[in-house]
Amino acid sequence: MTDPIRVLGISGSLRKASWNTLLLRAAQKLAPEGMTIEITEIRDIPFYDGDVEAGPGIPEPAVALREKIRAADALLIASPEYNGSVTGVLKNAIDWASRPPHQPLDGKPIAVFGTSPGATGTIRGQAHLRQVLANVNGLVLVQPVVAVGNAAQRLDADANITDEATRNFVVTMLTRLADWTHRLKA
Ligand SMILES: Cc1cc2nc3c(=O)[nH]c(=O)nc-3n(C[C@H](O)[C@H](O)[C@H](O)COP(=O)(O)O)c2cc1C
Repeated sequence: MTDPIRVLGISGSLRKASWNTLLLRAAQKLAPEGMTIEITEIRDIPFYDGDVEAGPGIPEPAVALREKIRAADALLIASPEYNGSVTGVLKNAIDWASRPPHQPLDGKPIAVFGTSPGATGTIRGQAHLRQVLANVNGLVLVQPVVAVGNAAQRLDADANITDEATRNFVVTMLTRLADWTHRLKA
């Protein structure tokens, strides 16, 4: 029996009707045996400010995120694409998480995926996110790349992936994330 894997899910969108949060919830339901996915919020994290860090210190919502990342065996990030890149709120959360001491992204297994209403499914945003996570030594799963285009045709309102090929990609990603996490913990 292998140890259970606790995954922390983060959506890069604050919207109530976010396609990416919906995709994350769909992934939560598809988690393979032995994996749980808890979804966390980044809404309350203030903008990074070096004066705040040097003065009062890392704000409580960012500390809470850091602790959740630390406690998780792996991360699953659903990333929208804004102007060909990562959303500001997600980058901001990563920036706070990356600060010393003991920044919790260091050596963390991470899977990234994303969805958009358009055809390209956040592929450019995901590429930037991988680059950002490399800077903090996040150990991002290489394959599969899961970029879900035409979100409205692939997700329903109850967080189900209605398209079989997309569902299989997500299941493969989660299974490989489990394997990746076990390998890194061994
Ligand atoms: C500022 C901004 C920039 C955007 N840039 C892109 C983009 O570069 N590529 C893309 O596919 N969609 C882009 N979009 C559309 C988003 O994909 C769409 O709003 C999507 O629903 C956002 O993800 P969410 O549903 O999880 O909130 C942009 C939207 C906003 C608000």
